[in-house]
Amino acid sequence: MKASIATFISLLLVMMSLSSPAADHQKTTLKKPEEKKLDYHRAMWDPIHFQPAIAKATNEQCLACHKEILERKVRKTSPAGVPAKKALAWYQTLNTYQGPQETFHRRHLVTPLAKKLMKMKCTTCHQGENPREEAPIPPDQENQSFTLRKQVNPKTCLMCHGAYPYKIMGLPGPWNEVRDQFQNNCLLCHSTIRTNRHKVNFLNADAIEEAGKKDSDVCYGCHGGRQWYRISYPYPRHPWPGMSKETPDWAKNRPTESPRRFLIQEKSASK
Ligand code: HEC
Ligand code: HEC
Ligand code: HEC
Ligand code: HEC
Ligand code: HEC
Repeated sequence: MKASIATFISLLLVMMSLSSPAADHQKTTLKKPEEKKLDYHRAMWDPIHFQPAIAKATNEQCLACHKEILERKVRKTSPAGVPAKKALAWYQTLNTYQGPQETFHRRHLVTPLAKKLMKMKCTTCHQGENPREEAPIPPDQENQSFTLRKQVNPKTCLMCHGAYPYKIMGLPGPWNEVRDQFQNNCLLCHSTIRTNRHKVNFLNADAIEEAGKKDSDVCYGCHGGRQWYRISYPYPRHPWPGMSKETPDWAKNRPTESPRRFLIQEKSASK
């Protein structure tokens, strides 16, 4: 009897220590990449995985424990024997796609196109989530803001993988049907419309414009060409020179600035 009470109490203690990962010490215990001698559970519950620490984490800090993220390779063949080389999706046949098949993480962080157009960090997508809360228990249909079982908020993906919003552009049809009428050139309109764009901390704005001038598939790639969702992303509508004073109905609720965490921080001279 005594033994079982003792076991119960120690179990309770373990559960209590697990339930508040970041509450007792706000700062990560991890100062430098080499200081990673934490055991599995301490590492998994390290404050670096949670807000507020994750917002400031560098790629180097994450990679100190997650080196595999950039090293893993895709299989040469699928389990059924289809060679990866031959299993190409249509966008992988466009000239913006280079090299052999790569993992999801490598495609966003280290492949040539990714490095040229983007500068995403681990924390652009990973904003911290509690592994024990990936699904609400009991299920709660009222809680609409819950991104069920996702480690990453899919709205982040939607920015570059949404549908091409041709209706609000006043185009007669989806880009793949009407592109020839517009010389397959987004800049026909976008050299004067919504020109204040891409000035966020995870994109290379100048490189995007330069590449887009040569090939509108670059633009289309992030605005409908790799569409994983049926909806479009409601982009912020940054004012641009020559913008009309009247706001179209669809744009009435649009923000005029990118989300705060994406704003480029000006480095102050004193720091
Ligand atoms: C001290 C080592 C360490 C550091 C630093 C670290 N992690 Fe982890 N991380 C772990 C361990 C251990 C796990 C549990 C792995 C598992 O269960 O497969 C984990 C799990 C994860 C998971 C999966 C969570 C889940 O719900 O299953 C993600 C995503 C993740 N880490 C991202 C990050 C990011 C992003 C950073 C940088 C901000 C980071 N990690 C920094 C050790 C670390
Ligand atoms: C483009 C967005 C994006 C970026 C950038 C990104 N991740 Fe992820 N990561 C994801 C998604 C999506 C998953 C899968 C989540 C799920 O299964 O719910 C994932 C899964 C993971 C996992 C757990 C599963 C696994 O594959 O082991 C770890 C660990 C992880 N990421 C670490 C990192 C680290 C470290 C970095 C920076 C070097 C990084 N991620 C950058 C989107 C991203
Ligand atoms: C800032 C823009 C951006 C964001 C945000 C983004 N992606 Fe991507 N994604 C790209 C680009 C660009 C490519 C093409 C890379 C290439 O062809 O080398 C790509 C490619 C992909 C691919 C195809 C990979 C392949 O090998 O064919 C998948 C799947 C994908 N993204 C899923 C996601 C998911 C899921 C998220 C959110 C966690 C996400 N992306 C967020 C820009 C983005
Ligand atoms: C015929 C002119 C025209 C062409 C061609 C065109 N656009 Fe647009 N686009 C517009 C107009 C007009 C708007 C809405 C401007 C506003 O905010 O009032 C717009 C808006 C957008 C938006 C913002 C959508 C939102 O929800 O805020 C994106 C992204 C965009 N265009 C991308 C592209 C890309 C990529 C291409 C080429 C594949 C392209 N456009 C070709 C006229 C055009
Ligand atoms: C690597 C992916 C990527 C590429 C390539 C890309 N865009 Fe974008 N675009 C985005 C993202 C992400 C945003 C939203 C950024 C933000 O939050 O301000 C955006 C926003 C926009 C907007 C809305 C501008 C506003 O008012 O803030 C327009 C218009 C647009 N893009 C057009 C283009 C055109 C034209 C090209 C080619 C020259 C292009 N995009 C290439 C990812 C991309």
